[in-house]
Amino acid sequence: MSHLSERPEKPVVGVPMPHESAALHVTGTALYTDDLVHRTKDVLHAHPVQVMKAHGRITALRTEPALAVPGVVRVLTGADVPGVNDAGMKHDEPLFPDEVMFHGHAVAWVLGETLEAARLGAAAVEVELDELPALVTLQDAMAAGSYHGAKPLMETGDVDAGFADSAHVFTGEFQFAGQEHFYLETHAALAQVDENGQLFIQSSTQHPSETQEIVSHVLGVPAHEVTVQCLRMGGGFGGKEMQPHGFAAVAALGAKLTGRPVRFRLNRTQDMTMSGKRHGFHASWKIGFDADGRIQALDATLTADGGWSLDLSEPVLARALCHIDNTYWIPNARVAGRIARTNTVSNTAFRGFGGPQGMLVIEDILGRCAPRLGLDPMELRERNFYRPGQGQTTPYGQPVTQPERISTVWQQVKDSAGLADRKREIAAFNAAHPHTKRALALTGIKFGISFNLTAFNQGGALVLIYKDGSVLINHGGTEMGQGLHTKMMQVAATTLGIPLHKVRLAPTRTDKVPNTSATAASSGADLNGGAVKNACEQLRERLVRVAATRLGGNASDVRIVEGVARVLGSDKELAWDDLVRTAYFQRVQLSAAGFYRTEGLHWDAKTFRGSPFKYFAYGAAATEVEVDGFTGAYRIRRVDIVHDVGDSLSPMIDIGQVEGGFVQGAGWLTLEDLRWDTGDGPHRGRLLTQAASTYKLPSFSEMPEEFNVTLLENATEEGAVYGSKAVGEPPLMLAFSVREALRQAAAAFGPSGVGVELASPATPEAVYWAIQAARQGGSPGSSDAGESRTGIGSADGGDRAGAEALSGA
Ligand code: MTE
Ligand code: MOS
Repeated sequence: MSHLSERPEKPVVGVPMPHESAALHVTGTALYTDDLVHRTKDVLHAHPVQVMKAHGRITALRTEPALAVPGVVRVLTGADVPGVNDAGMKHDEPLFPDEVMFHGHAVAWVLGETLEAARLGAAAVEVELDELPALVTLQDAMAAGSYHGAKPLMETGDVDAGFADSAHVFTGEFQFAGQEHFYLETHAALAQVDENGQLFIQSSTQHPSETQEIVSHVLGVPAHEVTVQCLRMGGGFGGKEMQPHGFAAVAALGAKLTGRPVRFRLNRTQDMTMSGKRHGFHASWKIGFDADGRIQALDATLTADGGWSLDLSEPVLARALCHIDNTYWIPNARVAGRIARTNTVSNTAFRGFGGPQGMLVIEDILGRCAPRLGLDPMELRERNFYRPGQGQTTPYGQPVTQPERISTVWQQVKDSAGLADRKREIAAFNAAHPHTKRALALTGIKFGISFNLTAFNQGGALVLIYKDGSVLINHGGTEMGQGLHTKMMQVAATTLGIPLHKVRLAPTRTDKVPNTSATAASSGADLNGGAVKNACEQLRERLVRVAATRLGGNASDVRIVEGVARVLGSDKELAWDDLVRTAYFQRVQLSAAGFYRTEGLHWDAKTFRGSPFKYFAYGAAATEVEVDGFTGAYRIRRVDIVHDVGDSLSPMIDIGQVEGGFVQGAGWLTLEDLRWDTGDGPHRGRLLTQAASTYKLPSFSEMPEEFNVTLLENATEEGAVYGSKAVGEPPLMLAFSVREALRQAAAAFGPSGVGVELASPATPEAVYWAIQAARQGGSPGSSDAGESRTGIGSADGGDRAGAEALSGA
């Protein structure tokens, strides 16, 4: 078998291909889970009974009034659960709770002949509560000492000695918001039960195997009685990694109890009020630099807003800690993590999975400290990059592979974006415009690829060749728009040596490939690609032997290229279809199960040390913004990105992922502003931003006016499938450059050398307050804002450092 990263002659990988469903997407004919309802008879509709209080013990739940509503068939409550009444992997997430834990918590579900009947039935269910105090914000929880269990600690070097050696020490705090996934397709499932009791659940899930596991727990049946299928998702972004399980279990329970198909699809407001989001974080930090601005020590505590239950908060926090270094060498570090327990939805995976939060903390620190060190932020960042040949490791002890790529992508962006000239132009523009300022910021990323938990790093596939030469592949990954299926078809075609049109891909199902990992951590192509390749290699090995007997020669000399088998040094040919037919008549097995596991990983969650990542993905982005001094309104004038995807499996798909990730990151950091009712009135804890009308997403009007995305060339990743790297999440973090550009533009309204703090999201309002603070000399200033989410102070010589920095500037 060939080396994993090696490409054969005329590979189908690396060729720009449209998404395998592009035509269906743009013509509106692609089917999503809930579209299947129209093709299913006698379907019952499920509607949640949401309690509109943030916290309280249920003292009475009366379902009779619902049953009196015409068309209501049944009300599902905890009493109906034959197995375990829990929707999570941590067993802290009752599916039908006795205690309402957040505003909008569903405590029962109504099944109706129509959705309207179910909705009216749900409204008729009577719930009585003993109301309890509700901790709505991260501050509420921190003040009350309300935390979930895990308290990881990551330590490296000697932090106290590092501070003692520092010429400049700064301290600060930073609190930043989470993010709503806003996938276009909301949570949905359709459950059916056959005459034999076998359950078939179509679910909009990134993790069909875990959906299957939870459904089987809830119903108290073995996993082989439950099949979960995911056709495709209209976006997942991490929001469908763990959150679909309970919903699917409700549909499955309904189907089991009534014998009829049961569907639900949350409407937008239900989805936003019931499902978890990106974790907002609080960070308090102390950082020491030497006289040249090199980081000597970092001491930080990160607190994630976990919401009411754990869900994926522990691994999200772990990834945050593992990414606080980003591209920077921090010789001495002590970083503690905590998960606050609040009375809000249970926060969950979201593109980057905590990585963005950890990285945002260090980028914010550098953005704030650069002016106080008298350094250009770009210079400060560069000085702290991991360097090749020094054996530097991350704070959790993993050697940094390819540290030279940080400066490679960085330099390429500098060149392609014409940075030096544009900085001069911007300085001239700013000097001439008192009420409008421009700024250009360059930031880089390093993102670890693999699941922290080693066991998850495995993938499976099942590849079938039919007698006519057509190929059907099944693999364990799910398609959510990211183009995984397109890549898997390209991998199969490449390995078998056939044209792409010979390959078709079947929807993801737990009865084809068992025990799969979530399609997450950007590792879908690595893991499933390895498995598809492995299955295809087994088949190819068998087929080249058949070809060798037909063509004469050694099997090892047979090459199959573009659907034709030849023996090296001979003119004789055998077409793929003939080869397959011959193999069939020779009774050669034409199907194979493939498997892949990532080698060389280890992680000790207790000591918080190890090498959890197979490799790192790198990238750099330069963003130029223009800010209006009267309103704080801004636009993104130009973005230049160089991003490392190894040797791309599918360049059009990858560029789409880079563009989409960047824009989604910019949305998180600049526009999307989740707000809850934090008052003591009757609606305390209610999500105020429940729809697109109040939750601002990036749209065409906020796109960069010029947007240049380049994939790093000649970037073969040894030991990954066809030399490629994962792409799904890392580009989101390139959007730090937008936030840092906004910070610098705001600072440009003040005297030179002023550092400003910027709230996150940096909405126009937040930028306006940053401008005001800059005008007043850049002190902790944003206190005017009342709701300021940041604050900086100094300790142990911070004043001295500040004075030095200012005098030196
Ligand atoms: N791209 C699209 N269009 N839609 C999505 O839902 N999810 C992202 C990313 N890109 C997502 C996406 C997330 S959170 C992850 S982890 C990866 O895709 C998952 O797919 P992959 O492992 O195949 O890259
Ligand atoms: Mo992605 S947050 O790992 O689903």
